[in-house]
Amino acid sequence: MCGIVGYIGKGNSVEFLLNAIEKLEYRGYDSSGIAICGDDKIKLMKKKGRISVLRKSVAVSKDFDVKKGVVNTGIAHTRWATHGKPSDVNAHPHVSQSGKIAVVHNGIIENYLELKKSLRRRKVKFLSQTDTEVISALIDSLYDGKDFLKAVRDTVNLLEGSFALAILCSDFPDTIIAVKKDSPLIIGFGDEENYIASDVAAFVDKTKDICRLEECEIAYFKGDKVKFYDFNGKELDKKVTHIDWKIGSSTKEGFEHFMMKEIMEQPEAIKETIAPRIVDNKISIKNLDELVESVNKIYIVACGSSYHVGAAAKYSFEKMTGITTIVDLASEFRYRIPAIDEKTLVIIISQSGETADSLAALRESKRRGAKTLAIVNVVGSSIASEADHVIYTWAGLEIAVATTKAYSAQLAVMYMLILYISSRVGKISDDIYREYVKHLLSLPDFVQKMLEMKEKIYDMAKKYKDKDNVFFIGRGVDYASCREGSLKFKELSYLHSEAYAAGELKHGTISLIEQGTLVIAILTDKKLFEKTLSNIREVQARGATVIAIANEEKLNSVDLEVDEVVPIPNVPKMMLPSLTVIPLQLFAYYFALLNDRDIDKPRNLAKSVTVE
Ligand code: G6P
Repeated sequence: MCGIVGYIGKGNSVEFLLNAIEKLEYRGYDSSGIAICGDDKIKLMKKKGRISVLRKSVAVSKDFDVKKGVVNTGIAHTRWATHGKPSDVNAHPHVSQSGKIAVVHNGIIENYLELKKSLRRRKVKFLSQTDTEVISALIDSLYDGKDFLKAVRDTVNLLEGSFALAILCSDFPDTIIAVKKDSPLIIGFGDEENYIASDVAAFVDKTKDICRLEECEIAYFKGDKVKFYDFNGKELDKKVTHIDWKIGSSTKEGFEHFMMKEIMEQPEAIKETIAPRIVDNKISIKNLDELVESVNKIYIVACGSSYHVGAAAKYSFEKMTGITTIVDLASEFRYRIPAIDEKTLVIIISQSGETADSLAALRESKRRGAKTLAIVNVVGSSIASEADHVIYTWAGLEIAVATTKAYSAQLAVMYMLILYISSRVGKISDDIYREYVKHLLSLPDFVQKMLEMKEKIYDMAKKYKDKDNVFFIGRGVDYASCREGSLKFKELSYLHSEAYAAGELKHGTISLIEQGTLVIAILTDKKLFEKTLSNIREVQARGATVIAIANEEKLNSVDLEVDEVVPIPNVPKMMLPSLTVIPLQLFAYYFALLNDRDIDKPRNLAKSVTVE
């Protein structure tokens, strides 16, 4: 969704800001804008559409020639419309009527109508339909011509809702103020220059020394110095964190799309996630004992693909730990009254660590006394910071909107967790435990082997690229994989697809199967193989074309008689989803490629969903 960047230093602010918002393009946006402070005024450019449009306008404007040897400040934004349609005027930054204050904003100001009304009474005129414009207007109205920081502090104390802000004032060309409440904002410390962004991807090529603003904090940048305050004006001491992502960068490294690069990085992402946590053939996760002690129920709560990780893990979680495990969508969980107490462990899974519904579900769980564990990819993100315990997935920076390597790393954490808990509660023998750990360590190699099927999957996508409807069917853990496969497919292809529990087909959905309907059937679970096979026969009898993703061992003894077969090595059932997902990701990718879709930034989607 929306992206914020800010720059302060003696370098070329405009170049940095435009490059940085481009790195946030993947989050989804419909307009962009930039403001810099120079010659005692705010210079502004905002454009609907792609950043390239903004770039062109900036290139021909004299306003954006940056002076050398002086402190340059600037802010920029990518907007994903909420209040008011995508347009030049609704794009950020929003500048106050006097031209002194410029603001970029992520989040939603819930009391903006009330504030707008009272500002209008004071003859303030508004140009846009956004909630953000009240912020610049309010700061301006509270500014006494001397104390910029106080005007910002007084303003944020009047705002309700969520807001990450970066603010300029033309009276202070060497100053930027950044504010965070309920929407992420990160500071990057560079070499005699500092950066602000809503996502580290914006500046990770410049520095890995970062500091996340916590709730209701203000960062005040002046020259090369930065001070931190709370909303009452109390100065805060904040620590710098070094993010140690070994893999992933903000460039495509020769791949046509980030998504393909990230698909190929999966073996490494799994290895990075697992290897440091296996010591002497035992899973070692610090400080987890206390958290899992006396737990009698587990909730796994998440959104999107992270939810599918929970759905896939649930089967083995329950079977191997003996603990009731409920998987829930964060957007549903947060508004019902789940039966949770201090004996419940709530596991929140999130790549970004900022998904609004998942964060709310975490807070609600804590409020009810549950123990909370977060599985998160982005270091120091809100969910990671607020949970009782966090296990990081070391997938590195993920740029493509459709998640792949973070999904795989999340699954790997779940496997470790299942083994860890089942061994703690005495549900697994030492021998079996050791066997599993061995399999876990070889998982990256199996995933690598699956990736070698790339060409085969490409050929399949080519053959079926004109289908306009796909059904995914499977049972048990395969049904969970169907849901992820179907989501990937619809995210990328913009076509209808549906994941169905194979046993449920006859209760309605089979009426949609006709001559030539494409059905992707998943049969990796040996025990349920014949059951799903019967469902394949049923759809074939009604004319379906079937691609089967099936257990390799079973394939040796059964002739499937389907249109295409993708064999899946016979790893322990718990780990099957890690292999099954590879052909599903590749199929979605190639299908979209052959249909000329916007692979890394599918329409209407955002990487990090920070509003409900
Ligand atoms: C968005 C992304 C998905 C992701 C979901 C949950 O919809 O496009 O790829 O699975 O949010 O995000 P999270 O960061 O919480 O895993």
